Amino acid sequence: KVKQAIADELLPWFSQNKRSMPWRSNRTPYRVWISELMLQQTRVDQATPYFQRFMKRFPSLKSLAAASQEEVLKQWEGLGYYSRARNLHKAAQIVAAEHKGRFPDTAEGLIQLPGIGNYTAAAIGSLAFNLDLAVLDGNVIRVLARLFAYTRDSRSSTAKAELQRYADDLLVKGDAGNFNEAMMELGATVCLPRNPQCAQCPLSRVCLGHESGRPTDYPVKAPK
Ligand code: ADE
Repeated sequence: KVKQAIADELLPWFSQNKRSMPWRSNRTPYRVWISELMLQQTRVDQATPYFQRFMKRFPSLKSLAAASQEEVLKQWEGLGYYSRARNLHKAAQIVAAEHKGRFPDTAEGLIQLPGIGNYTAAAIGSLAFNLDLAVLDGNVIRVLARLFAYTRDSRSSTAKAELQRYADDLLVKGDAGNFNEAMMELGATVCLPRNPQCAQCPLSRVCLGHESGRPTDYPVKAPK
């Protein structure tokens, strides 16, 4: 039922309502990688100017690999998490040197690179290589927890694994990038943490959180 609603309601909603973002056009692995890394630490509107500036300074993976670490850190200034910028630089050098400048096109290959974990590998794999990989980030966790009125502590590793299985199961095969972005977009614009806009939600008819009348009870978060 939920799977049907994703095909019939969520994907059409997304194609009508998707916000325009610079990385949504010209989807190279390099551009997806940089944007997803930035989006792990900032919101879309904040990340946009950083992304534009970064692409101007480092238009290609090769130019990034050839830059000094100092220069890369300088472009990262303001974004925080500088270890991510160092890993980014290292990964660019590895891809340039060991993969002839081409990104690995499998999840296993991507995860080998410094700073690329499950989330980033699934994002690059699905958005740039059309691999059937489901992403799980904060937005997707909230959407799924509400859809299934999921009561386990969402910060636990059991819950993460279980929610990942839900996402894998719901994933629209052959259209994973679109599915992933639609789920993230729903979480970012409709299925909001404190004020979910269920009246606007393409999935409200199949959502157990909505049905419960208390969607904000999900995801359950035990105190840290
Ligand atoms: N947040 C993280 N990745 C995103 C993407 N590709 N589109 C929109 N929001 C995102």
